[in-house]
Amino acid sequence: MTVEAVGNDFDKGGYPHYMLKEIHDQPGVARAIESRYDAGDFIAEQVTLDFNRIDRIRMIACGTSYYACQVARRWFAEVAGLSADVELASEHRYEPVVADGLREAAILVSQSGETADTLASLDKLKGLRVPTVGIVNQQGSTLAREADFFLPLLAGKEIGVASTKAFLAQLLVLARLVAHAADQRGHRAAAKRLRTALVAAPKAIEAALHNESAIVAVAESLAKAQSALFVGRGALYPLAMEGALKLKEISYIHAEGFAAGELKHGPIALVDDKTPIVALAPSGDLFPKLASNLREIAARNGRIILLGDRKALLALSDIASASLTLPSCDELIQPIVAAVPLQFLAYYVAVARGLDIDRPRNLAKSVTVE
Ligand code: G6P
Repeated sequence: MTVEAVGNDFDKGGYPHYMLKEIHDQPGVARAIESRYDAGDFIAEQVTLDFNRIDRIRMIACGTSYYACQVARRWFAEVAGLSADVELASEHRYEPVVADGLREAAILVSQSGETADTLASLDKLKGLRVPTVGIVNQQGSTLAREADFFLPLLAGKEIGVASTKAFLAQLLVLARLVAHAADQRGHRAAAKRLRTALVAAPKAIEAALHNESAIVAVAESLAKAQSALFVGRGALYPLAMEGALKLKEISYIHAEGFAAGELKHGPIALVDDKTPIVALAPSGDLFPKLASNLREIAARNGRIILLGDRKALLALSDIASASLTLPSCDELIQPIVAAVPLQFLAYYVAVARGLDIDRPRNLAKSVTVE
């Protein structure tokens, strides 16, 4: 199968860096996915698995792709009533196999389709006769060819080492796979809610892009920090880890992502008036819990950079040292929308520090050796 990519892949489209171009490519990527996946039964044609006969999903990936799987793990549980485990490929490949009798399917997610650890996991799963779905951006890559089933990401060529549009595409494709599994398993109302939320995604991503200029000023102050913490809860906890990874990758500032409820078990010791804390705090079921975690931080003089929809920002305006608005959307797709300001934040911090954004030190776009 051949699938067209979006955009003009090899020029920077007038942007100073590929990473910035690729952040701006995202609404187009969302539309490309929409037109391929939402017309007809694309997933049913590509993935002939019966999700009614599966007891557990196993998701395997590395780096940014691993955080996309962490978001999908929650969607599988909440929308499809299916439990999912997520493992780093570098760990999974050497992990002991437990024969617990559960029927599994594996989903391997990769931008390049050539990451050595992910391919080793694929071999292991094939040896165990677990059916495998490869969700891959690079068509013709080893993972795209060798997984039993293949779903393309349609993000176009991603050149910046720090993954942006491929991550967003991973979330959008995984969400559609979850909705497909939910339909098969009779969770029709939940599947419908997710699909409806996804229809609104391209516009919400566009709206998130409009906050770029507000992020520049926040990034300039973050660029002076030696260390930064990112916090979130629920499906935004993986985004906190992804936001921290983005910042580390291209700005070389030490950053860590935490589940906000876990702060009290250790990380709160790191809070002082010099360490910015990026809080992913849109309205939703867990907002009151998160708000109380953030008040604990404020009580210890933490410098909170708040990302939330208008309602959430208003509720916490007294403790935020900076606020960045997220477009309102269904809670299910908040992780998709939140990806955009985190990418901008890392990008503009690296700009403020004068770093080589598209080719960060010590990193490779695709790690094809162990
Ligand atoms: C490298 C890249 C990361 C990427 C990871 C996994 O470390 O620098 O940006 O997330 O590999 O790559 P994959 O191609 O498997 O998604």
